Amino acid sequence: MPDLLRIGALVSGNGTNLQAIIDAIEKKELEAEITVVISNKKTAGALERTKKHGLNGIYLDPGNYENNREYEKEIVRLFGKNRVQWVVLAGYLKIITDELLSAYPDRILNIHPSLLPAFTGLHAQEQALKYGVKITGCTVHLVEAGLDSGPVIIQAAVPVLENDTVETLTERISKKEHQIYPQVLKWISTRRLKIDGRRVSILPSSSPSGNEIINPGGIV
Ligand code: GRF
Repeated sequence: MPDLLRIGALVSGNGTNLQAIIDAIEKKELEAEITVVISNKKTAGALERTKKHGLNGIYLDPGNYENNREYEKEIVRLFGKNRVQWVVLAGYLKIITDELLSAYPDRILNIHPSLLPAFTGLHAQEQALKYGVKITGCTVHLVEAGLDSGPVIIQAAVPVLENDTVETLTERISKKEHQIYPQVLKWISTRRLKIDGRRVSILPSSSPSGNEIINPGGIV
């Protein structure tokens, strides 16, 4: 049996996306293991979830490091120690520096609650509501130096309803997030992701069962 895909996650918050990935692994929909979860927030719900599932969770206090680069040097060391192959940002509220980017080129994923390139940065759902768009959604992309600007892997569309609040819209976007993040990892674990500059394509499945969580068109 080939080695399982080894994932390292960076988190800051509630961790519902991390939970969706844990669930996909436990249900055997995703052949991977999360070898380490690192949080920059001591009380992050994501760390609780990590421990509840018997995974390796670490709170790394940014206050103990001179700057973000030094902090990431320690992250890279811990990822190396845990033989991490792919990095998953799952609600990680810190800017990524070249320390991590150069250690994992084209191997860092992020999920963002909008259809990028619209509404980058914080409070994407609120930005969408204020702008008045009729369709928003979420995006899984590769991470590069710019803010939310790396190559897009998949996007899921979510309609904005007349009476939506930030909370109701966030809830519906989250549901889609929890589908597409594990799906991307599944494509990676089955070596189906082809990265060609900014264009990312999904190679056809070699297994006839077509056991997709969702279809591989890159759009949901
Ligand atoms: C999600 O909305 C994700 O798109 C964004 O941060 C949020 C994380 O939520 N990057 P959770 O911690 O996974 O619940």
